[in-house]
Formats: sequence, C-alpha cells, structure tokens
Amino acid sequence: MLPKRHRTYSTNFEDTTLVPVLAFPRPNAECLGSKRLPTKNNLPGFATRAIHVGQEPDLETGAVTVPIYATSTYVQQELGKNKGYEYARVSNPTRDRLEKNLAALEGGVASRVFASGMAAINALCTMYKSGDHVVCGNNLYGGVPRLFNQVLAGYGMQFTYVDTSDARNVERAIQKKTRMVYVETPTNPLMALSDLVAISKVCRQKKVDLVVDNTFMSPYFQQPVALGADLVVHSTTKFLNGHSDGLGGVVVCTKPEQAEQLGFVQKAAGAILSPFECWLVLRGVKTLAVRMEQHDRSGRLVADFLTQHKKVKKVFYPGLPDHPQYELARRQMSGFGAMISFETGSLSNANKMLRKVRVCSMGESLGGVETLISHPATMTHAAQGEKGRREIGITDGMVRISVGIENVKDIIADLEQALGAL
Ligand SMILES: Cc1ncc(COP(=O)(O)O)c(C=O)c1O
Repeated sequence: MLPKRHRTYSTNFEDTTLVPVLAFPRPNAECLGSKRLPTKNNLPGFATRAIHVGQEPDLETGAVTVPIYATSTYVQQELGKNKGYEYARVSNPTRDRLEKNLAALEGGVASRVFASGMAAINALCTMYKSGDHVVCGNNLYGGVPRLFNQVLAGYGMQFTYVDTSDARNVERAIQKKTRMVYVETPTNPLMALSDLVAISKVCRQKKVDLVVDNTFMSPYFQQPVALGADLVVHSTTKFLNGHSDGLGGVVVCTKPEQAEQLGFVQKAAGAILSPFECWLVLRGVKTLAVRMEQHDRSGRLVADFLTQHKKVKKVFYPGLPDHPQYELARRQMSGFGAMISFETGSLSNANKMLRKVRVCSMGESLGGVETLISHPATMTHAAQGEKGRREIGITDGMVRISVGIENVKDIIADLEQALGAL
C-alpha cells in the first residue's frame, strides 16, 4: 500500500502540457564533452549505441532483449574445454553484454560491473596498494570518504581532501606517493564543478590516474574519458538504471590491463552484479537518452522556478548563469541535468517543506524516473558531522532534488505548495 501522503494526492496525468517556454538555454552543443561532436571513427550516435551495443538479438532465438542467464555454473565439454564460461562469479553472458554496453557509452575499452556503486569504487581501489596516496574532492558522496577513511586507510592507503573546483589545489596536493586523483563533478549536494581537462593535464604530467565519478551527469551529458579521465565510475543505481529498482556499480577502463585487473578482482573478491540486475541496467540504458533529455528540460524549469521563489534563499544548479562555474558547465557538459540543491534557511524550514511534498518522494538516492527530494545534512552527509559539513558549506536548511520525468507542471506545483508551508 502506498504511504498516506501519496494516497491523498490526486493529479491529472492526462494533461501532458509542459510549461511552454524553456527557462534558459541548454549548454553549447559544441562543448568538449558533447555527444554531438563527430566521433573519430564514425561510431553510431549515443542513443543507437545505448540500444544496440551489447544488446544484439539473442543468437539462438532472436529475442530482442538480452536473456537473463540465471545460472551459477556451466556444463563443460571435457577437461579444460568449455564454451568460454566456467563459473558465474568469473563470468556471465548477461554481465558481459552490460559491460560491453557501458564501455561503449563512456568511450572506454571495457568495463567491469559490481554489486553497487560502492563495491565498484572499492574494487577500483584494490588496484592500488598500501602506502599509495590519493588526492580527492572534499565534497564527495558521503559513502566514499567513509570507505576511504574508515576501511582503506586501515590498509595503509592515504587520502588528502581538497577543493578540486580549482585544479591548482589538486596540483599542490600531489605528492611523490600519489597514484590517483578522485573527482566527482558536479559535486553532491553543492553542485561545484571540477575542470576535467585542467585536472587531467596535471595528472598526465605527474603520472597519476584521474578517476571520475560520472554518476550525476551520466555519459549522456558528460564524457570524462574524452576529457582525459583514466577511469570512470558510476553508481548504476542512479541514472543508468533510471528506475530505482536495483543497485549496481561500474568501473569503465581506458586500458585493457585495467579491465584485466578488475576482472581478476571480480573473480577473486566476488562483489559482482547479478544477471538480473545487469538486465535491469541493460533495460534502463535503452531509454537513457530520452530520459536525460527530459530530466534536463525539467531540471532547468524547476531551477528557474526555485530561483524566483521568495522563500528560497539560494539555488545550486550549474545551468544558472549566476553559478560560479556556469561557463565551465557549458564547456564540459552537454546538458545541465536534473540535480538541484536549494537553501530553505533552517532545519525547521527544510522539515516543514519536506513533510508537505506529495508528487516528490522524500528519500535518499537520485536519478530515477520519479522526483526524489532529500535532506543532505541528515541523510547523505550525516556521517560527515556538523563541523565537516560546515567546512564545505552544507547547511541544515539545504534540500536536494533529483528532478524526475513526471509532468513538470506537477513537480513545480508540488514544490510551490510545499514551500507555501514556510
Ligand atoms: C555520486 C555517487 N557515487 C557513488 C554512490 C554509491 O553508489 P551505491 O549506492 O550504488 O553504492 C552514490 C550513492 O548515492 C553516489 O551518489
């Protein structure tokens, strides 16, 4: 049964009219990260790759969707002879298809999928060793510093957190033992950007890997490999799956030896993505392009609405011309996306409005078809502590919204009535 607040809400889903004029324009289509740039080897377009790469019809039956190979093992023909599959922790045909697909979308040579975004990031870190130093953003998804500080530091890895929105901070923090720079752009929930071209230049000079978490933008709006990243990670739980019905994570590789090493980690450590969840992501990415277009269109309209609302004190969205890195956003991304944070002024204001939402669902996570609204200070960034949050500018009154693809007029009307409680 639906929670009470949903039961009492009624909406006219017949009316599909959007607010007629887009609030402000999309970024420059010529931007560096854009899927619209002609590809060197004339690859099919993004949406075509999403639907067809790794998603070829089943050879045996012609089924247009990839079968879910629900098997733990495979019959072998004789000792040392098999059809390329021995045991499902090591490999699975559904997983192979997804790994091929996601590599094609990010422009990598291969990818490896894991049981969650955190499992993917943890697997990635096993490519480094005790004594290695990592320079990372100071406003990462809260689970990442938790893994770094409370698990991996115990195995001798060292981490330095800097504001990566200035590439010079990254350069200054790199030491002799630095092996990796780890960046999320835009950040959660402050929506600060890191200049991937500038950081990758520093990394190249210093012979350090640049790892980019591309979860917020998805490969549809941002292509870190084209901008110089060595490895790209995602929580596939978010936009790639897009339907809030499965956890998952991926590491996209730019070198075959990275994929080989991570394939070994899948086999040795076993935190692989199940065939069913692989299938969910394969299903999800088929509509990634159209979903992202709608997320972006509605995101810009919601951001515009929030900037004009008298109870909203500040809006954090890279598509707003007054965002301090607006020009970088236009250069680096081909859309502004659906992630917006805004300031309500106090914990009590945030609570009052969050209790009132009806179309927006209050909860953690992002990137689903439904609009999700959350409170970073008590949810995603609670573990960071008050001091840690204050240092980077996360306030108790901050609310984060992942704009879904419901009718945007309903999302805006819902926010309007919820903000009316303040
Ligand atoms: C940017 C980002 N990276 C990684 C993760 C971790 O992903 P998962 O929850 O799938 O483990 C999250 C989760 O919210 C995230 O927002």
